[in-house]
Amino acid sequence: MNNLLEGIDISVTFKAYGDEILAVRNVDFVLPEGKVVGIVGESGSGKSTLARVLSGLQIPTTGQVKYLGEDIRQGSGVYKGELRKAVQMVFQDPYSSLNPRMRIINAVTEGVLQHQTNDKQLAKEIASKLLKRMGISEIDSRKYPFSLSGGQRQRASVARALTAQPKILIADEPTSAIDQSAQSQLLELFGELIKDGLSIVLVSHDLGVIRYLTDFVYVMENGVFVESGETKDIFEKPKNPYTQKLISSIPGHSIK
Ligand SMILES: Nc1ncnc2c1ncn2[C@@H]1O[C@H](COP(=O)(O)OP(=O)(O)OP(=O)(O)O)[C@@H](O)[C@H]1O
Ligand SMILES: [Mg+2]
Repeated sequence: MNNLLEGIDISVTFKAYGDEILAVRNVDFVLPEGKVVGIVGESGSGKSTLARVLSGLQIPTTGQVKYLGEDIRQGSGVYKGELRKAVQMVFQDPYSSLNPRMRIINAVTEGVLQHQTNDKQLAKEIASKLLKRMGISEIDSRKYPFSLSGGQRQRASVARALTAQPKILIADEPTSAIDQSAQSQLLELFGELIKDGLSIVLVSHDLGVIRYLTDFVYVMENGVFVESGETKDIFEKPKNPYTQKLISSIPGHSIK
C-alpha cells in the first residue's frame, strides 16, 4: 500500500510575547492511500497546527512532509503544479474557506472554473450537482454563507474543496458546532467520498466521529503523539492513560 502523505519528525514552535510555544513536537504521521486517518486530542493539543503543516499552509520549524515520497516543498513553493489541487483542507471555521460576499453557488462555480473547465455554463452545472450531492438545496445554494446554518456552511466548504477533485481531504473538526442530524448528514457524505476513493485526514476531539469513520488514529497530547494504532484497537484496548481518559469520557462507553 502506498503512503500517500507522510509527516516526518514534524515540529512547530510559535513565538508569542517572548514565550515559545511548542505546538507540535517530533511527530511522525502516515496517511496510506484510500484510508481515513484520525487525529484526536484535547483542545490546544496541536491538531490544527499539524493539519495546517500537512496541507502545506504552515511551514514546520523542523521536519518534512512528503506526498508519494516527494517533499511537498520545492524551492520556495509548497505543493507545486498538479499537487496544488491534490490536497485540500476544510477549516475548523468554515467561514475562513468561504468568501462572505459570494453566494454559495458562485463560490463553488468559481472553484470549478479554477480547477476543471473554462466553460461557465458547464461549471455552474457541475457546481449545482456537487452542492446537491452535499445536501444543499437550490434555494440554499443561492444564499450567502452567513445565512446558512452551521452544518450547511460546513457542507458548502466541503463542496468548495471538492471542486479541485483532490486525492486527499484534510478536514479540521468538520462536525464541531453542528447538531446531531447535521453531523450524521456530513458523516454520511464522508462515507460516500471514502467509497469513491478519497483519502481523508480527520481532525476531531469527538471520539464518536473518529471511531465511526477512521481506520487508524493518532492520539495527540501537548504536541506529541502519545498513542497510535488501528481504530478498533485504540478504542477496545487503549494503552496510554491519556487515551483511556479520553475514551472513558464518552457517554456509555467502557473499556474492555
Ligand atoms: N499562530 C499561532 N501563534 C501562537 N500560538 C499558536 C498559534 N497557533 C496555535 N498556537 C498555539 O499552539 C497550540 C496548539 O494549537 P492548535 O490550534 O493546533 O490546537 P488544537 O488541538 O487544534 O485545539 P482545538 O481542539 O481547540 O482546535 C495552542 O497552545 C495554541 O495556542
Ligand atoms: Mg483546532
